Amino acid sequence: LREKGLEEIKKASDEKKLDEVRVQLVGRKGELTKILHSLREVAPEDRREVGQRVNELRDLFNKQLDDSKKSLLAAFIAKKMEDERVDVTLPGRRSHVGSKHPINIILDDLEKYFIGMGYTVVQGPEIETDHYCFEMMNLPKDHPARDMQATFYIDDENLLRSQTSGDQARVLEKHDFSKGPLKMVGPGKVYRRDDDDAMHSHQFMQMEGLVVDKHVTMSDLKGTLEMIAKHVFGQDRETRLRPSYFPFTEPSVEMDVSCFNCNGKGCQICKYTGWIEVLGAGMVQPNVLENAGVDSIVYGGFAFGVGLDRFAILKYGIDDIRDFYTNDKRFLEQFRKEE
Ligand code: PHE
Repeated sequence: LREKGLEEIKKASDEKKLDEVRVQLVGRKGELTKILHSLREVAPEDRREVGQRVNELRDLFNKQLDDSKKSLLAAFIAKKMEDERVDVTLPGRRSHVGSKHPINIILDDLEKYFIGMGYTVVQGPEIETDHYCFEMMNLPKDHPARDMQATFYIDDENLLRSQTSGDQARVLEKHDFSKGPLKMVGPGKVYRRDDDDAMHSHQFMQMEGLVVDKHVTMSDLKGTLEMIAKHVFGQDRETRLRPSYFPFTEPSVEMDVSCFNCNGKGCQICKYTGWIEVLGAGMVQPNVLENAGVDSIVYGGFAFGVGLDRFAILKYGIDDIRDFYTNDKRFLEQFRKEE
């Protein structure tokens, strides 16, 4: 039994088996107990000796069982440690943090800039009415200049705004001039039925600007536009004003910035002109003021509409406006450092 018992203990390869062996050897109904129970059949003079041997054997088994249990446990822990080993020298995984869209970087920066100069920021609806987008802006239904902006009409009265200029009318109607001059910017999405190409998108971002007060002059407009350009592009970028036409301003201008790509020499991106148009502006047409109930004899002002996509293109040297709207992470992540 001694040999057999020790052999069984050795063979038990996990705690459960070891426990079975324990029950079988030294348990209440185990082999050793059986021997003790059968002591009666042993000759009285041998009983003492047999009893002693049984006790010895039990001590031996117990000790062996305990040792075995300890080494099983140690092996188990060692294996677990090995399995769950962590290599602390591995580089960590970076969690993905979003980055600001390049147009939002420019937009947020310009908003801050204008707020610093006392402008308020307004936001008009993207689904605009014909009334505010055009009629109030001196563009009645039969006006030929409506063709300048290929508009997405929803029905006779509602449209996807093709310009943020409707914001001008909305603000003019509400402004209380006894409380001071009106100075506002209105950024937002606009839509046009343009064929998309590197410089045109059927959806883009504009920022409307309007200043109305007594004695506002064209040089105020020019100074403001030049300041914006210098602020966004730095002191060295060249700008020029060209005469233009908008029904809601008179006189009207457009501002061009020298092409980022060819530095004014002419290339495919600027259609070989050396310049890229970035905004339209002018002195507010008196009808626009009168339509909103503002006395155009006393008050006058200037307005501008900035193409924020064009600003971003020129500032960051992007050669395709469509990159702003295709959400390629590789493109967008490049601007993280600009935030
Ligand atoms: N709304 C004009 C456009 O979309 C831009 C503009 C705004 C021009 C304000 C003059 C004054 O082209």
